[in-house]
Amino acid sequence: MFLKFLVLLVIVSMHGYGALASDPDPIQDFCIPNPRFGAIRTAHLNILPCKNASEATTDDFVFSGLKAAGNFSETGLATIPVNPSVFPGINTLGMSFVRADLKVGGINPPHYHPRATEIAYVVQGSVYSGFVDSSNRVFAKVIEQGEVMVFPRGLVHFMMNVGEKPATIYANLNSQNPGLQKIPTAIFGSGINEELLEKAFGLSSKQIGTMRRRFDPKTVR
Ligand SMILES: *[C@@H]1O[C@H](CO)[C@@H](O)[C@H](O)[C@H]1NC(C)=O
Ligand SMILES: *[C@@H]1O[C@H](CO)[C@@H](O)[C@H](O)[C@H]1NC(C)=O
Repeated sequence: MFLKFLVLLVIVSMHGYGALASDPDPIQDFCIPNPRFGAIRTAHLNILPCKNASEATTDDFVFSGLKAAGNFSETGLATIPVNPSVFPGINTLGMSFVRADLKVGGINPPHYHPRATEIAYVVQGSVYSGFVDSSNRVFAKVIEQGEVMVFPRGLVHFMMNVGEKPATIYANLNSQNPGLQKIPTAIFGSGINEELLEKAFGLSSKQIGTMRRRFDPKTVR
């Protein structure tokens, strides 16, 4: 009887954890991953063992890699994600950060983060910025230097530099591992069955081939 109750309690608490779906609360002030151990990979968790707190230094809590833009993609976007793999000090703190730069006319294609709400601050530039809610309503406008926009967790969002100068955006995400799914790549670059894509989008085999070559040449037979 007691055992049944215990099992039920565990199931209920696991379910609650899944439904909240935000990062778990830390149980220590901080947890700087110990470089002597890699990640312990289990079926569901990536646990990074902490180094002894007495060995933590101020530099563990400082990241200096955001002073300049990263490398630009074909769409004119450069991002530097700041997560525990480059900034061990934020491990277990429930957040991460990204610097994004957009060339004039550059875009951040529609994408979403399954595990984080994002708040993006325009450091410089004019950026057409928005998201789509689950009823397919678009919320978008041009935001300027000094303004922020929030992208609710799991919703598709996008940006385009519509100004005459390069744009820089800093963004906070409320997970240390927000995840990133780019819509074009998820659809056309992932190896989904071609016939299914033709039917889903009403496109010919040739048109699907064009999209696949653009987003992942590996998936083109
Ligand atoms: C952490 O370091 C302190 C000081 O060196 C030491 O006293 C303590 O035993 C260490 N803790 C662990 C778990 O190794
Ligand atoms: C940009 O690319 C160079 C060369 O591949 C690489 O060394 C550098 O780390 C990259 N910068 C960033 C911020 O990813």
